[in-house]
Amino acid sequence: MINVGMVGYGYWGNNLLRNFMNTPGCTLKTVCDLRLERLKIAQKQFPSIEITDKIEDLINDAKIDAVIVATPVFLHFKFAKMALLAGKHVLVEKPLTASVDEATELVNLAKDKNLILAVDHTFLFTGSVQKIKSMVDEGSFGKLQYFDSTRINLGLFQPDINVIWDLAPHDISILNYLIDEKPVSVSCTGQSHTSNKLENIAYLTLQYQSDFIAHFSCSWVSPVKIRRILIGGDQKMCLYDDVEPTEKVKIYDTGFDVKNEEEKHKMLIDYRAGDIYIPKIAQKEALSEMAKDFINAIDKNQRPLVDGESGLEVVKILDAAQKSINNKGQEIKL
Ligand SMILES: NC(=O)c1ccc[n+]([C@@H]2O[C@H](COP(=O)([O-])OP(=O)(O)OC[C@H]3O[C@@H](n4cnc5c(N)ncnc54)[C@H](O)[C@@H]3O)[C@@H](O)[C@H]2O)c1
Repeated sequence: MINVGMVGYGYWGNNLLRNFMNTPGCTLKTVCDLRLERLKIAQKQFPSIEITDKIEDLINDAKIDAVIVATPVFLHFKFAKMALLAGKHVLVEKPLTASVDEATELVNLAKDKNLILAVDHTFLFTGSVQKIKSMVDEGSFGKLQYFDSTRINLGLFQPDINVIWDLAPHDISILNYLIDEKPVSVSCTGQSHTSNKLENIAYLTLQYQSDFIAHFSCSWVSPVKIRRILIGGDQKMCLYDDVEPTEKVKIYDTGFDVKNEEEKHKMLIDYRAGDIYIPKIAQKEALSEMAKDFINAIDKNQRPLVDGESGLEVVKILDAAQKSINNKGQEIKL
């Protein structure tokens, strides 16, 4: 039985607690939060758990094998490092850390101590992303040309990070999971409409060595909730609409062929708009799959689906996006 401790029992911590309590082979032994009212809620739900407002109680508990960090992002590094130094496996909420240096240090520390470092990029565990991944790997879309995501809603404004650090990790992690090629440059613009100057709307573009391109729209100030990703290949295209209750993934037999390319002024395009296919998607709770994967990785000493290196790759893009925003959209080489 793997004993887990969790620091941060806010909105997401509540989902993590429920799923880890239902994961075979582990138990969530102790929850730590600064807010006593939250700890009481946790204990009411699961009377067996211990509660504390001191992180040291988790870190110094020899019976705890693994620590989940579900605090605000600026505390991820501090708590993950403390746990790794104490010889505990660590699962960190997304994004792994607030800087590349911090993420690199955690990755190296976990490696040195032969401990599991995993990141909760939850969307990779959804049936939809798993299905799209298997279709990409089978070559169903042909050569991939673009990834275009829109993740917008009204709120939730975060007090410590801007909209790119809050929402883009979901889509960047999906993109990195689907394609092996790494971006060569990042450009990003954004705007804040509040006094704390954290951008609440932003547009991020990734350029690649090949002709692949990726674009992300992120907003906390949209009147409607949209969570859509379009993926284009030269054979087929895909719409992943996470707000759809059932038919989340649609595959379009859509494409174009360019004729007379050598004579640009005479270029002809043949458009193809064929059938639309809706694949069957496994209806599993993504967080439950993530929890199982983390516990299994500890148990078998194997790589989790999203390890520290994958988390670091996401942070590298976020960090470059931040530099670009600070320089009015300047292209930042990776
Ligand atoms: N994977 C996902 O889909 C997903 C979704 C939402 C949030 N998150 C991530 O989860 C993390 C938490 O987000 P949230 O929305 O639950 O925030 P939240 O503010 O609701 O919860 C954070 C909790 O951490 C506690 N906390 C703060 N400082 C602490 C300290 N020093 N010691 C102990 N506890 C402390 C707070 O009291 C609060 O209860 C963030 O990293 C966020 O990015 C991930």
